[in-house]
Parts: sequence; structure tokens; C-alpha cells
Amino acid sequence: MTETDEAGTFPAGAAEPAAHRDPSTGTVDLRRVGANPDFWYPVALSKNVRSKRAFAAVFAGERIALYRGESGTVYALEDRCAHRQVPLSMGVVEGEALRCCYHAWAYRGDGRISQIPYLSKGDGRPPRGVRGYPVREAYGLVFVFPGDPDKAAAAPLPDLPAFGSPRYRTMTYSRTVRCHYSFMHENLLDMNHQFLHRGVVGRLHPELLDFRTDERSVEARYLFSHAGGKRNRGASLLASEGIGGSDSRDVMTIRTSYPYQTLDLVPENAERPAFCLWVAYVPEDAAQRRCHTFGLLMIEKPRIPGALHLAWPLIRRFTERVFAEDRMAVEAEQRAWDEQGEDRNREVFSLILDVREVLRANGVPIRPRGACGASSVCNGQDRGPSPMAGADGTAG
Ligand code: FES
Ligand SMILES: [Fe+2]
Repeated sequence: MTETDEAGTFPAGAAEPAAHRDPSTGTVDLRRVGANPDFWYPVALSKNVRSKRAFAAVFAGERIALYRGESGTVYALEDRCAHRQVPLSMGVVEGEALRCCYHAWAYRGDGRISQIPYLSKGDGRPPRGVRGYPVREAYGLVFVFPGDPDKAAAAPLPDLPAFGSPRYRTMTYSRTVRCHYSFMHENLLDMNHQFLHRGVVGRLHPELLDFRTDERSVEARYLFSHAGGKRNRGASLLASEGIGGSDSRDVMTIRTSYPYQTLDLVPENAERPAFCLWVAYVPEDAAQRRCHTFGLLMIEKPRIPGALHLAWPLIRRFTERVFAEDRMAVEAEQRAWDEQGEDRNREVFSLILDVREVLRANGVPIRPRGACGASSVCNGQDRGPSPMAGADGTAG
């Protein structure tokens, strides 16, 4: 697949304004394509939605109040009281209900109002409630389904067998990155950027073995070998003496399977991956120029008991350093887009041209939002920090 006139067509009925198209190719500017809401997206770490407490989450500018009822079940409601629009995430959990902090209207987990304490005969007819989102908990994350709720039951949660396997232990990442989610997909899939990490991992030589593309996914396999330079202890531990740690070579498989991304590393002659990474990039703001990255890094336990425990902080430090370098690059890309007002990238790598097409074809237009009726992308402005900005943290 390459960038053609067909690329950038949205699904039927989802016409995109001409201004969002590149006049030379007719393609939609990928950085103006929204994440398709008809998937399960993580919006919080489970541990941050504490017992009998509410939590302010967000998906693409839609504020979502999560709360954990007394039974332990997590519910997700539109984060505004139907009465006077005060965030329900400021409310109080009572049993399985959430009570607004202002005039104490109470909501069930499906968003319906269950009680208005002072309502009496002769008062006006109250609203029915607010939107309730399908919600599930898995892998230490809270997932919501922000799209058509009728599609939620048929949409699978990601399948991560390594997460529950006794052979693996999971390190969790949760970070805001100030860029459109597409830059993240491109960054991970394009291993030709190892130069960026030369100070951390030494000289790595990635050789693209092959790649496959279909309507929903792009999968690339690279052969990684160490070509000299400094070796990082964390990298060696992570790859069981593979990447950067010895002369052995590793096969890295990276896959964008809309809307998620995975990366597996199998050292030469090994049967199982030394690690498997699963990532979701969840837009935070309405313009989708900021995303929250939720990552699960499932690391194979070495044969020596306790060795992984000792290696854990080194692996953490190594991965955080690599991530910080990637973040620096993708945020610079977003700043360039902001300054130029359009995507002037001149990409040459066919694999990346393919993933851009997959992200375009599966995405949706970013819809106008806001009281002024203006498009959320019309003025290049963020709408202030999301409830999750500053919630950067890690776990695991
Ligand atoms: S604003 Fe929520 S009860 Fe009044
Ligand atoms: Fe990187």
C-alpha cells in the first residue's frame, strides 16, 4: 500500500472538510484524524480508581467520571452533573451510586438519576441523567468504550496471554505525551530511529526483514544486532542478554493493530519472547494533540529466582530513558505541525506510509466541539490541561 488518492477516505457518511486535505495528493492530513471511539480504550490505572472514590478521566476531550462502588465494580459516567454541569468526578460514592457534590443528586452506574433529595410535588420535571459508558477492568487498567455502546459487547478487549503467565512479570507505564497519537505509532514502527538512542543503547543495527499490511494492521519484523558502542545494563537484562548486551541477535516484531500497538523481542535461538510490550495511545484533548500512553511491558522471568526483582529498577531506568528520548522527538514533530498548520513530513519508508494509511482509514474526523461551535482543530489551541495532565505516573 502507498499513499494514493484513496488513502484518507473516511468511512461512508464521515466526510472530511476539504481544508483538511493536502491539495497535492487529496489525502486527509493524518494529524487531523481522530481516534475511532468504537474500541476499548484504557483511561486510568485500576489502582488510581480507589475504593469508594471518583476519578476524573478523559477521552478526546470527553470528560469521564470513573468511580468504584462499594462492591468493587467500576462505573464510567459523563463527567458533568445533569443539574448544573458540575463535574461528577468531584462527587461522593454511596454504595453503587455517585452523588454530585453540589446539590446531592445521585446517579446509578448507568447514568440514570436515582435520587434528588429535595424534589417535591410541583417542582419541575428533572432530567433522566447523564451518559453512562461501558466499562471493563483488565490488566490493571480501566477500559471504557467511548463510541456506540451497542458495539461494545462485540468489541474484544486486547488479548495479552503473557500478562497472566507465571513466566512473565509486567511493568506498567502511564504518561501524557504532547503529540497526536499517530506520531507514536510511527515512532515505534520505524526502528530506523535507533540513532536517537545511541547514548543509551549503543550502536544498534536494525534490519527490516519483512512487513505485512492489511486493512486494520501493519506488522514489521526487524533483525537487531549490536554494532558497537556503549552497552546498557538495563537493556541487557531486559532482553536476557540480547539487545545491546551480547553478540546475539534478536528478532523484533512490531505491530499496529488498530488502535493498539505491540512489540515482541525474541532472542535468536529462544523459543519465547524475552519481552512483549502492549501500548495504547489515548487522545486526551478534543484536538487530539496530546495523548495518554498506557503501556504494559511483560518481561520474561530469568531462571534464577529473584534475579528479575534485582534487575527491575535498572530495566525501569533504561526504558524510561529510551521513552524520554522518543517523547522529545515526537513532541518536536507535533510542535512543527502546530507551527506549520499542516503535515509537511516527507516520509520515504513504505512501512510508515502504510501505517499512516491504516490510521487514516480506521480513524474518524475530529468533530467540532465547544460552545462557540468552532472546530476543536480550527485555531490550533489546546483547551487547557486535561484532568490527566500532571497525572503522569508509573506502576508495576
Ligand atoms: S450541580 Fe449536581 S446536584 Fe446540582
Ligand atoms: Fe525509540
